[in-house]
Amino acid sequence: MARLRHFLDLSDIETATLRHVLALAVARKGKARPEPLLAGKTLAMIFEEPSTRTRVSFEVAITQLGGHAVVLDSAGSQLSRGETVADTARTLSRYVDAIMLRTVDHERTREMAQNAGVPVINGLSHRSHPCQVMADLMTFEEHRGAIAGKIVTWTGDGNNMANSWIHAAARLGFTLRIACPPELSPRAEDLNWAAGLGADIVVTADPQAAAAGADLIATDTWVSMGDDQTERRHNLLAPYRVDSHLMARAKPTALFMHCLPAHRGEEVTAEVMDGPQSVVWDEAENRLHAQKGILLWCLGADSPGHGS
Ligand code: CP
Ligand code: NVA
Repeated sequence: MARLRHFLDLSDIETATLRHVLALAVARKGKARPEPLLAGKTLAMIFEEPSTRTRVSFEVAITQLGGHAVVLDSAGSQLSRGETVADTARTLSRYVDAIMLRTVDHERTREMAQNAGVPVINGLSHRSHPCQVMADLMTFEEHRGAIAGKIVTWTGDGNNMANSWIHAAARLGFTLRIACPPELSPRAEDLNWAAGLGADIVVTADPQAAAAGADLIATDTWVSMGDDQTERRHNLLAPYRVDSHLMARAKPTALFMHCLPAHRGEEVTAEVMDGPQSVVWDEAENRLHAQKGILLWCLGADSPGHGS
């Protein structure tokens, strides 16, 4: 049996495949809808954590591709009463063609993939957020051309988004500078994996130095789903806020990105978030197109005969 095309982490997927999925996404953006490449296919989406963008963009994506989505929140399924992830994976695989899971615990995502007979998509875990970074890569290239050789600066928490940016930097060949308080540094395991592939990644406590000459400044909330110690995190992360002074350190053509939801006045000022360098709404839109690329690849509907 062919290996299932799970989409758990950008580090699991070869560069050529990521490029292929991005090309599928870009192509979808220009296509008329509906485009019934996934007619008759069903996606189960399990949300153990809240979502606006991921939930709606996946449901709209599969609907526009001719398929259907079933949404389960943890409270409304037997997961809330202790049914295991493995048994849930085995059951859902008898009904649906792919499963998307959002959960804090990345091990639950892995366990789902290990026990499912259909592809599993990571719709965010505390470890990573690969679907979002696919949309962000698409957004950058749409505005500024190839990301290879460019400088991306991440400032703030070394969280799930930072980890997926690390994976992307190693796969797609751009420089990544991460400015964060030492105790909120990204996982050593991910940094070491990227270093092993020769990735150009610097971790520093100095956001001003990290932003110098950058092509993109990106940040995210100071308190992710599953985090505690909110006040302490706010104190540690305040120097990493993106404001107009930090943006001025970057290239005049630099973009600002945030996966959303944003907290104006915390990780980013309203001036930057709503300013001319911000592409946050394009990122949000591109979640829809990126999800289509991911779904088409996961479900094997990505060959030229399928309309890519
Ligand atoms: N960026 C993102 O994943 O948003 P949601 O939490 O709304 O899905
Ligand atoms: N880092 C954030 C991203 C939300 C889309 C979180 O995990 O809550």
